[in-house]
Amino acid sequence: MDTNTTPQPMPAPASIPYPQTGTAARPQLSERVNFIVFGASGDLTHRKLIPALYNLTCAGMLPTDFRVIGFAFTPMDDAAFREEMRKALQECQEATKYDPKVWEAFERNMSYITADFLAPDGYEKLKEKLKELGSTEEQPGNRLFYLATSPSFYADIVDRLGAHGLVTPSAKQGENWTRIIIEKPFGHDLDSAQQLNIAVHKVFSEEQVYRIDHYLGKETVQNIMAFRFANSIIDPIWNRRYVDHVQITAAETLGVEHRGKYYEEAGCLRDMFQNHLLQLMSIIAMDPPVRYGGTSARDRKADVLKSIVPINPEALAETAVRGQYGPGVVDGENVPGYREEEGVNPNSNTETYVALKLFVDNWRWADVPFYLRSGKRLPHKVTEIVIQFKRVPHLFFHLTPEDQMEPNLLVIRIQPDEGISLRFGAKVPGPEVHIRQVQMNFSYADAFKVVPSTAYETLLLDAMEGDPSLFNRADAVELAWTAIAPLLDIWKATKPFQPFPNYGSGTWGPSAADALLARDGRSWHNNIAMPVATIKPEVAPCVAGEPVGVRRAASDGETDGNKPGI
Ligand code: BG6
Repeated sequence: MDTNTTPQPMPAPASIPYPQTGTAARPQLSERVNFIVFGASGDLTHRKLIPALYNLTCAGMLPTDFRVIGFAFTPMDDAAFREEMRKALQECQEATKYDPKVWEAFERNMSYITADFLAPDGYEKLKEKLKELGSTEEQPGNRLFYLATSPSFYADIVDRLGAHGLVTPSAKQGENWTRIIIEKPFGHDLDSAQQLNIAVHKVFSEEQVYRIDHYLGKETVQNIMAFRFANSIIDPIWNRRYVDHVQITAAETLGVEHRGKYYEEAGCLRDMFQNHLLQLMSIIAMDPPVRYGGTSARDRKADVLKSIVPINPEALAETAVRGQYGPGVVDGENVPGYREEEGVNPNSNTETYVALKLFVDNWRWADVPFYLRSGKRLPHKVTEIVIQFKRVPHLFFHLTPEDQMEPNLLVIRIQPDEGISLRFGAKVPGPEVHIRQVQMNFSYADAFKVVPSTAYETLLLDAMEGDPSLFNRADAVELAWTAIAPLLDIWKATKPFQPFPNYGSGTWGPSAADALLARDGRSWHNNIAMPVATIKPEVAPCVAGEPVGVRRAASDGETDGNKPGI
């Protein structure tokens, strides 16, 4: 076992995907941090945490003296843990190019404790380990716990940490600190979330608790605030006077993969809506905060959650749709239905798709529908927010069937092809006046020459620096559960109206989800072209319908008679 406590200098990395842009670079923390991961042999540690820590190492932003202590039930020694993490890192698409020298220096500071989360001996071993790493009563060292286990262990682990004296009190300036990051789902429903908050607060004070929702760490999600509040032209139109409705989509091509057991308990409403989708909605709908950090922005987001009009159980058909995928074809491959997945009940009524219509009852948004949807095994992996503006009040153009008079759309692409686009009508070049829809695109990759990092780097650093702005507060988590509670109850007690499975893999979900919008005279925006990384930011001839570029194609043998609108 490696008991060396001297900071190990990190060699220069091979390449840096976690970008440090000019003066925006965050300074490296100079204090020692002990990062203790519960559930270290699990999926999250392999796929997200270790790659994010490695990316931070390569970017020179991990504290100079950073220790990882894995804690899990799977028997492993330090060497086996390091080896497993190295393999995971090398397989990870989101990680900086593997550099053996950087990794060797990083892994020297990794150790592993094989232990049961409920038994006392693991916590005693952890105390010993921290002592070996220089922890004393006067200088306990900074401790960042990460709960990446099954959520059913959260309350017990927190309780054991307290009972074994592993949690120091809330720190004052200059003192060593203890903090805890808790993965989602935080609770299974409102009642269990409240119980978990009570259990956590018995051991940690609220400012030591970092409830993670990785969507909040995504660059593009943080950019919503910048877009809305760092530009004076946006806020005047960001309200019920100009906005017709908002669509928020989080579509995935993947099925439940090997998470069938978890997903059977969770379902899409818990897995995606209680956290990610309601967070996106809060940031889109919030009023301007007084300042970025502190409580201000979190208060404004909580205001949105408080203002969501409660779901009316009597009018559920006009509010919510649930679905479950059957077999189908995704990305050219035949895939099984949800009920055939490993760990799933062959008669399961767990939903893998949800569409919801919500209203925010306040001055800014009264009567503006927010349509939210998320599903697995849809045709594309895409998370985006579409703001559809109202139609112009008066039209004086002589419109023909070829003209395209559509409402303006502002599309905020969270992932992939991260960026923002605005669709608007433009005059087709030529002697007559005809209108086509064109799109003005901003692409992160082109503008900043970087692909936005995964969210975990930002969130891990924030927790180490003691900045909770991008984490969920106890009240916000409970408010989000409150918003979906009526649906959870009714769906638990009733069978789906349309028997499951009710949509094929590779389609955009159940037909009832289309009907949800059609009833309001609207439709989902499924295929808005976005810039790809190689296209320069410009007004591109991306159109809904026939391309504007047809006129240019005349030189390729087209006759004038084929030109649109002429
Ligand atoms: C997780 C859900 O929180 O988010 C998963 O548990 C889902 O089911 C994932 O696949 C989606 O995250 P992202 O960042 O890929 O959109």
